[in-house]
Amino acid sequence: MKALVLAGGKGTRLRPLTHTSAKQLVPVANKPVLYYGLEAIRDAGITGVGVIVGDTGREVQSAVGDGSAFGLDVTYIHQEAPLGLAHCVLIAREFLADEPFVMYLGDNFLVDGITGLVDSFRQADYDAQILLTKVAEPQFYGVAELGPDGEIIGLEEKPEHPRSDLAIVGVYTFSPAIHEAVRAISPSARGELEITDAITWLIDNGRRVHSHFVSGYWRDTGRLQDMLECNRIVLEAIEPDIRGTVDGLSDITGRVVIEPGAVVENSVIRGPAVIGAHTKIVNSFVGPYTSIGEGCTLEHAEVEYAIVLGESTIRGVSRLTYSLIGRNVEVTRAPGVPDTCQLMVGDHSRVQVRS
Ligand code: DAU
Repeated sequence: MKALVLAGGKGTRLRPLTHTSAKQLVPVANKPVLYYGLEAIRDAGITGVGVIVGDTGREVQSAVGDGSAFGLDVTYIHQEAPLGLAHCVLIAREFLADEPFVMYLGDNFLVDGITGLVDSFRQADYDAQILLTKVAEPQFYGVAELGPDGEIIGLEEKPEHPRSDLAIVGVYTFSPAIHEAVRAISPSARGELEITDAITWLIDNGRRVHSHFVSGYWRDTGRLQDMLECNRIVLEAIEPDIRGTVDGLSDITGRVVIEPGAVVENSVIRGPAVIGAHTKIVNSFVGPYTSIGEGCTLEHAEVEYAIVLGESTIRGVSRLTYSLIGRNVEVTRAPGVPDTCQLMVGDHSRVQVRS
């Protein structure tokens, strides 16, 4: 069995971060979200992985390499534009050959991994298996309608009026029958070859399509609130590990990881939180559910429920919350009076101020 990981696409909902970097590389507890998927694939006993990449391919490639760091053998497949999930299967035909495979959307996050799904597919005789879970806003997802015996009656991609609250999770298993399906369908109204249409084609042509409910926690990390929520879930389970330097005036409580080379002086860190390597926290407060990347500086700052990427500086600011701060960002206090905000932010940024 092989795996096909989708790490192309545009990531419009996480702009401006995704203007310059791949959305699948935004970190959750200081580790790119894509790594969790690759580890889940390896844990399910799969080693041959095709990774679909687009405009951000170079960055994905330098983060994942040949896959050996994960115990995987990775082949990159370039997609010229994000033409749809089924288009990814179409262009991976040669790599996938005639093997069954798991298709994993690189921005999806499943706490319990995919071993159960892959094992049940290996033992059964399905042409496709999809994962479902109840969600509050089904209109943002692929939606499945099930019959009285749990059979799939219909699948729709981001319907305006969803017929159920069952979202399709971004992990699918397929037999080689999917190749005929992706060749048979046409682009949708939004111009993409939809995997939901290909699966519908399998059902309409008498192929066996099975659905399976996700038992554990799942999120599509495409939006800020989902990113922060995944960060919270992962941090809740981290093992405390202090490998940086903490002075006697500082107070570290709860599950806190301080990576090597980090320095904490006269500060309070209330876990769960992770502080990246070579980051300096001085006269500051880091509150629960916060991940600070490597090489950052926090001085006279208060930050909680946030993700801060590497090399950023936060100085003289209280209190930053519910925030995703990119790489090499500076957030500092505006000098003098009147009490103003001075901003230089990128396109598609979102800033909420209280004055
Ligand atoms: O997350 C679950 C949802 O994922 C499902 O409920 C939907 O049925 C499914 O269509 C998909 O919807 P999204 O709108 O979230 O898909 P997105 O465009 O974000 O793409 C998912 C991943 O695949 C992402 O890592 C980017 C990558 N991708 C996407 C497209 C369209 C590619 O590599 N190439 C593409 O052409």
